[in-house]
Amino acid sequence: MLENRRILLIVAGGIAAVKVPDLIRRLRERGAHVRCILTNGGAQFVTPLTLAALSGDKCYQDLFDLKDESEMGHIRLSREADIILVAPATADIMAKMVAGMADDLATTALLATDKPVMIAPSMNVMMWTHPATQSNLQILKTREVKVVGPSAGDLACGEVGNGRMAEVPEIIAALTRFFQKNDGRGPLTGYKALVTSGPTLEPIDPVRYIANRSSGKQGHAVATALAELGASVTLVSGPTHEADPDGVAVIHVETARQMMKACSEALPAAIVVCAAAVADWSVEGAGQKLKKGDKTPALKFTENPDILATLSQPGPGRPGLVVGFAAETENLIENAKLKRAKKNCDWVVANDVSTGSGAFGGDSNTVHLVTADGVESWPTLRKRAVAERLAERIAAYVQRHL
Ligand code: PMT
Repeated sequence: MLENRRILLIVAGGIAAVKVPDLIRRLRERGAHVRCILTNGGAQFVTPLTLAALSGDKCYQDLFDLKDESEMGHIRLSREADIILVAPATADIMAKMVAGMADDLATTALLATDKPVMIAPSMNVMMWTHPATQSNLQILKTREVKVVGPSAGDLACGEVGNGRMAEVPEIIAALTRFFQKNDGRGPLTGYKALVTSGPTLEPIDPVRYIANRSSGKQGHAVATALAELGASVTLVSGPTHEADPDGVAVIHVETARQMMKACSEALPAAIVVCAAAVADWSVEGAGQKLKKGDKTPALKFTENPDILATLSQPGPGRPGLVVGFAAETENLIENAKLKRAKKNCDWVVANDVSTGSGAFGGDSNTVHLVTADGVESWPTLRKRAVAERLAERIAAYVQRHL
């Protein structure tokens, strides 16, 4: 997918610039042409000679270099690319992009380009979460700038949190997805996928309900990632604040029974991913609003259908790959393995949802992929990155087995 793609790589001034030589190597291994612009800040971390040697091209630095301007002006530089990748993208360069500043070669190229732009942010966690940076991020997104990462972890400044530049394989995967989408094809083109997401609400009476803390972020991200790989995706979602993902057919439901019905109607599908936090029980409902009285009312529960187990039942029409999520607060891996066996699904994505993990409702998730081949533990990643990795694994499986 990256063969002969022309990537203009802008290297800004962050410690993650030290990952750039490896990024260039991996891009070139895949047949991409890489040309670099190095900012003054970037040059504090990586030398122009290294970038030139690894990219096999000149490393551009100076806006007012007469020789460069006569050979390859900044306008041509910004146009003779299929995509501009800013990695690392510092808070400073993001702010300059938003403001439309053009005070060096990198920002001038970014302002002058008519090509897609992708950024791989990297900075201290407080800088990343600062309202200024978050608002800049939103503005860049509305301008169709693609964003890969950052992920959570130890930061070079000694603090821990969100702000690590996405790892090289994630950046390569994001570029690959971009070109696949751009070309209107991906490894899952022609495959139907069904994804569940969000909580279910189980009414107690006409005004009260039982629910859980699922935000739908993880499930919606899975639906988006599968669609980006070309799958035709139906998302069955409980009530969430998440926007309907682009290019995905969304069916909104409230209760577990409605979710079961919508899923059955969405079949056949080659791929199923059950990320919803489905209520195990519904309340034997009172038709009328319960009245406060002498006695505290006792709720009577009925077991809900298990959607994952139902969709995993062997037989004709069973989806080729069924993936469940396991939300556990103890013995994470063991319980996930048991769930995989009990529900007859192919893979389980196990996540620790104990208090403080942030899995329910948060932006990051730490998961373990449990398959017939064993357990793979992934680092803490943003839910979007978890979804992208999972979608990549699904695509690889589908190409081998379905
Ligand atoms: O929505 P977020 O805030 O982003 O949070 C994401 C998440 C934590 C909800 C998600 O990552 C997750 O773990 N989803 C599964 C939650 C859950 O219900 O887990 P469980 O261990 O209770 O169920 C195991 C599997 O069975 C799940 O795939 C679930 O969708 C499925 N199930 C459960 C009960 C039921 N009646 N029907 C089902 O299909």
